[in-house]
Amino acid sequence: MEAVGLGKATGKIILMGEHSVVYGEPAIAMPFLATHIQTRITDGPENSLDSIYFSGKLADVPAPLKNIQALITALQEKFQQQAGIHLEITSTIPAERGMGSSAATAVAITRGYFDYQKTDLSDQELLDFVNLSEKIAHGNPSGIDAAATSGPNPLYFIKGQELSSFPMNVDAYLVVADTGIKGKTRGAVADVAKQYQENPAVPELIHILGQLAKDAKQAIISNQPALLGSMMTKAHRNLKALGVSNDALDLLTDTAIANNALGAKLTGGGRGGCLIALAEDLATAKQIAAAQEKAGAKQTWIQGLGVYQK
Ligand code: PMV
Repeated sequence: MEAVGLGKATGKIILMGEHSVVYGEPAIAMPFLATHIQTRITDGPENSLDSIYFSGKLADVPAPLKNIQALITALQEKFQQQAGIHLEITSTIPAERGMGSSAATAVAITRGYFDYQKTDLSDQELLDFVNLSEKIAHGNPSGIDAAATSGPNPLYFIKGQELSSFPMNVDAYLVVADTGIKGKTRGAVADVAKQYQENPAVPELIHILGQLAKDAKQAIISNQPALLGSMMTKAHRNLKALGVSNDALDLLTDTAIANNALGAKLTGGGRGGCLIALAEDLATAKQIAAAQEKAGAKQTWIQGLGVYQK
């Protein structure tokens, strides 16, 4: 009988703390269940891949998919597998929008491969394999994407410290809107670093962003959506002052607020990518999403945020 392995992972969203996290302040990331990825691994005459970006021999993948090639090689080495495999990837996580698509791909492949080998996979083993893949994709991954795309809970993250998770408990809905513009994390991070040296106002802005992430965690734990929303909007203003927003993100923020959002902010590296808005109920979330699509958002998603969902 043919061996089959299946794996899954979700997208991720940074709720608070992007950019300031680089300077040792805390950040909050969460799994974004509205986007997901699935893998299916079967026996193959040689290693091959079927995905929307590439279909063919794994040996011939283009440069942006070299991380997948290296991950499969490492997995096969661990299991001393000589024979080939065929890997199918189906994903609704948009690439290069700050949703952790590369980490989620590695999570789903590793899970799929262990399932194919009918072997249990520990959390640590999963993170080690994903980290190997992320190093090739991004150079110096913090590990937050790997954790946020593989688990069910929000994560509180401080650079150099152990990740901790806490339960999502907010009676509200998150609307995510894609500007349709690729995120420009690398350039934005470099520009903030330059300003950090040159502009005396910047360290204070970074510190305020960190404080907002700390306060946001408390607002989430104590189910205070209005407070969380106001912190999100404050964070957006500070990120804009740091120069990491753009016209599309500002327009979508204003559109969300004009349509009764409790708050809105860019998420991830900025200058493109996605915007998040908080809505008090599903009807308002749908209204915000519709208004954002009218204002130019390429795609929108809605996710409930907790156990007390209306
Ligand atoms: O765009 P994303 O989701 O990869 O997030 C980048 C987050 C930053 O804080 C801007 C950079 C970083 O390495 O933490």
